[in-house]
Amino acid sequence: MLRTAFTKLVGVEVPIQLSGMGSVGGPELAAAVSEAGGLGVTTVAGLTPEAVEARLDEIKHHTRKPYGANFLIPLVQPDAVQAAARKARVVDFFWGFPDAELVRLVHKGGALASWQVGSLEEAVAAEKAGCDFIIAQGIEAGGHIRGKLGVLQLLAQTVDAVKVPVLAAGGIGNARALAGVLAAGAAGARMGTRFLAAEETNAHPDYVRALIAARAEDSVRSTRFEVTCPLCPSTHGVLRTAVEAADALSTETVGEWHHPDGVRSIPRFGGAPPNRQIVGNIGAMAMYAGQSVGDVTRIQPAGEIVRELVEGAEKLLHRTAASVA
Ligand SMILES: Cc1cc2nc3c(=O)[nH]c(=O)nc-3n(C[C@H](O)[C@H](O)[C@H](O)COP(=O)(O)O)c2cc1C
Repeated sequence: MLRTAFTKLVGVEVPIQLSGMGSVGGPELAAAVSEAGGLGVTTVAGLTPEAVEARLDEIKHHTRKPYGANFLIPLVQPDAVQAAARKARVVDFFWGFPDAELVRLVHKGGALASWQVGSLEEAVAAEKAGCDFIIAQGIEAGGHIRGKLGVLQLLAQTVDAVKVPVLAAGGIGNARALAGVLAAGAAGARMGTRFLAAEETNAHPDYVRALIAARAEDSVRSTRFEVTCPLCPSTHGVLRTAVEAADALSTETVGEWHHPDGVRSIPRFGGAPPNRQIVGNIGAMAMYAGQSVGDVTRIQPAGEIVRELVEGAEKLLHRTAASVA
């Protein structure tokens, strides 16, 4: 078994945290990862406290195991954080400088606090703010990229500087990469892209097909999907084909999101990734993907992905231990 400081702290069985992934990583995917022994996480950014509770109850409906709620700092509301902390084992933050008051609210509600960081400075500040664990995000990541360093460089710097467990994020999608970051001192890995083609995904089927067809090299760093994006201007890891398709368009609208609150128009170069409730030119939307997209080769249940990663990493780490002994 791959037990680490992260699995012991959170009470999960394997050192994998699912990335919160906006509307494409919903409660079903989070529940499936938690059921498989990892930490399933869903994004609750921008929701009211009541909607946060309802979203987290959906996870609870599918699993009794620990799960997490993810917030984006530009959209954070303290009462929503309090609601999440009453329900989730972990409340996770991204895209802002670590804030001790938010961490205090999480602890007061009885949950653990985690912060995804893009630099050593942010990592040190996250520990100082009271976070229970930290995620070091490298530029290989899918979605919005906070820092300037590759994952191994930032991981090494962070592990040397802080005492709390550190997870690695960005471009990790296979057992070798998971074993690699664990051997380098990570207490686990946060993965997003690898789970986008899981059976339980809320990513649009055309997006899933594009991910399966893509190679690692097809994940590019771009700044283009910045329209109506609260995290922009920023760099993001996205499929090259999406940038090219949006560039080639002559219309300023690419589709519609049939949201429970009403129909929303999706602008060209809009920041929302295409989910199953969106219709239109899916290939020209923000199909975020990390370099780990090279590991997305078919649709699989999330539980199978977790087992494949963990069993593979375990074997590799045993083999490495034996060869250096
Ligand atoms: C489609 C997609 C959406 C994302 N949305 C969020 C989000 O809502 N909140 C967040 O903290 N991180 C988000 N991320 C970034 C992840 O937290 C994480 O850094 C990334 O998934 C790691 O790289 P990987 O995708 O190669 O595994 C997103 C990533 C992807 C691929």
